[in-house]
Amino acid sequence: MGYEHGDEPPSNTSANRNFYEVMEARVGRRGVLMGGLAAMVTGLIGGSISGRPAAAQTRQSLLGFKAVPVSYQDKVVVPEGYRFQVLGVTGTPISGDMPASAPGANTGADQEHQIGQHHDGMHFFPIDGSSSDGFIVVNHEYVEPRFLHAEKPAYKGKPVGTYSVAYDAEGRRDDDEVRMEIAAHGVSVYRAARQADGAWAVVADPRNRRITAGTPVEISGPMRGTSHVQTRFSPDGLRARGTLNNCSHGVTPWNTYLAAEENWAGYFSNTDQIDQKPDLPREHARYGVSTNPKGGRFGWHLAMSEADEFVRFDASAKGASATDDYRNEPNTMGWMVEIDPFNPQAAPIKRTHLGRFAHEGVVFAPAVPGQPVVCYSGDDSRFEYIYRFVSRDAFAPGQTDGSILDHGTLYVARFDDDGGGAWLALAPGENGLTPENGFADLADILVNTRLAADHVGATKMDRPEWGAVDPNSGAVYFTLTNNVRRTPAQVDAANPRAANNFGQIVRWRYSGGDHTAASFAWDLFLIAGDASTSTMANGAALNEDNIFACPDGLWFDAQSRLWIQSDMGDIGPAYDGPLKPFGMNMLLAADPATGEIRRFMTGPWGQECTGVVTTPDGRTMFVNFQHPGAHATSAQFAAGDYGSGFPDYTGAVPRSATVVITKIDGGVIGT
Ligand code: FEO
Ligand code: CA
Ligand code: CA
Repeated sequence: MGYEHGDEPPSNTSANRNFYEVMEARVGRRGVLMGGLAAMVTGLIGGSISGRPAAAQTRQSLLGFKAVPVSYQDKVVVPEGYRFQVLGVTGTPISGDMPASAPGANTGADQEHQIGQHHDGMHFFPIDGSSSDGFIVVNHEYVEPRFLHAEKPAYKGKPVGTYSVAYDAEGRRDDDEVRMEIAAHGVSVYRAARQADGAWAVVADPRNRRITAGTPVEISGPMRGTSHVQTRFSPDGLRARGTLNNCSHGVTPWNTYLAAEENWAGYFSNTDQIDQKPDLPREHARYGVSTNPKGGRFGWHLAMSEADEFVRFDASAKGASATDDYRNEPNTMGWMVEIDPFNPQAAPIKRTHLGRFAHEGVVFAPAVPGQPVVCYSGDDSRFEYIYRFVSRDAFAPGQTDGSILDHGTLYVARFDDDGGGAWLALAPGENGLTPENGFADLADILVNTRLAADHVGATKMDRPEWGAVDPNSGAVYFTLTNNVRRTPAQVDAANPRAANNFGQIVRWRYSGGDHTAASFAWDLFLIAGDASTSTMANGAALNEDNIFACPDGLWFDAQSRLWIQSDMGDIGPAYDGPLKPFGMNMLLAADPATGEIRRFMTGPWGQECTGVVTTPDGRTMFVNFQHPGAHATSAQFAAGDYGSGFPDYTGAVPRSATVVITKIDGGVIGT
């Protein structure tokens, strides 16, 4: 089904309870679940979880725009009084000698200086606090090879499906195609500024750079130098190459960027075993590393030349020891990667104490001088977990840098039946994580983060995606996008909807607002779906102004507006499944204090709306549309119908892009 796209096969075989079993134990009816929990939570931690101050109950809504309708059109729709432009499309030159993207003639070397494909998490780093000049840093989650190579003989006019790549008669791939795909992954850092005519443009700057799935990176934190990450490329285990499947991101309190490595397992192939269980190394098996000789995705290790930069994706044990091959290469993925957008010489750094899993992103609690730094990250796969990291050292503005993330404690969440929850430490000797139980030391725990979380009894969730912290209340919100594998036995019998088709948003708070606390109180902010299957925080169902499903992207603006993005998968005009009532993927805004939600923008065919941020003044918003046209069938592709015209509408292949939104009266976005 379309909305399973972007997720990997489930690989959690532990007996831990999942979120719905917990919910079912707590409540019998959804009305109680939504309304009742607020009261329960109030009793648990004192004060409403919405953080609604008494004065706010009479204040005006944060949402001042007129909702746009559900859309089935191949275009971008914004509210009355707003306008948009397109910026930073795939193939835009940003560095080197600024090679223009020429259809049919673009090379891998060109792509290494051009904006990548499949835009995802993103931040705007202002230059000197400016709201009209700064660096956009944007993740490129994965690629659509048939659109990168559309003019090549092996693709043009051929029935090529999404994800498919061309192999020769010997099962080999063209080197330059692979190089281009590797280069279209990773992160783009480029300067963008508002011009005299009001339009935004890419600006050449020596700090612009591409970080790709092949860029040399440093390994930092507890994994650095351990046997787990020793490879032929780095026998000392200090370095690695590239970052993969960068979904969402985080912004540190010291103004750097963290790119998440989400569904990286499918890029590797380990053919040492034909059956993943039980003999594949657990640090491969628990993450779903493929035993398919072509790997789970693009077969990069099968590039014709057998160059080292390609064969590293073959995780089979081929040499005499780990330093003779790439059996450990998958262990160099699954981390959060720190990038300093203002220092192009600084290598990306894998901050390994934040754990190894399918990181969707990371969100920081507001940093308090003299207190530890705290951040949260979800593992986006079915039945996986939500994690927290608390630093050992205290935050010192102006002095603290990313090395603070190298010492501390990683925790995983348990959601209890009574509206409370607990953070369970994933540290040597804690919660049974001992050598006797199979966890030799901290590095062994971290490289096997999922297994450690299984062991301590974490709660299985429905695909945790983005998190966001309300600047007003301090509450932490996380999207749980869907889980089509949830069995009927796990459904609350009083709720007839297949809730795991549509997803929900969970939130939690701490007594005294202390993000380092061992326990928390939680609630559901939203159960997504259509009018008959949804519930908002105020107890009402979603309506024509806001029905949507599969919440994914999540971001609070400075005024506490919660921006929510849908990822229902590759939905096109011919789609006729359970997600049809919601139309194309969209961006919505919510007022967390009132629970009100309004649809702000809808996008073209096939895309996913992901990545949202504004300039510091809140008057310019950047939003990404990823994989337009991805729903196009192989027959459509062969006929030259690429599914969507976005953004050029010239008959060329569709491209991911950032959309820049402003209010015609120059006001703050959302008001
Ligand atoms: Fe890359 Fe979980 O969305
Ligand atoms: Ca996502
Ligand atoms: Ca998603």
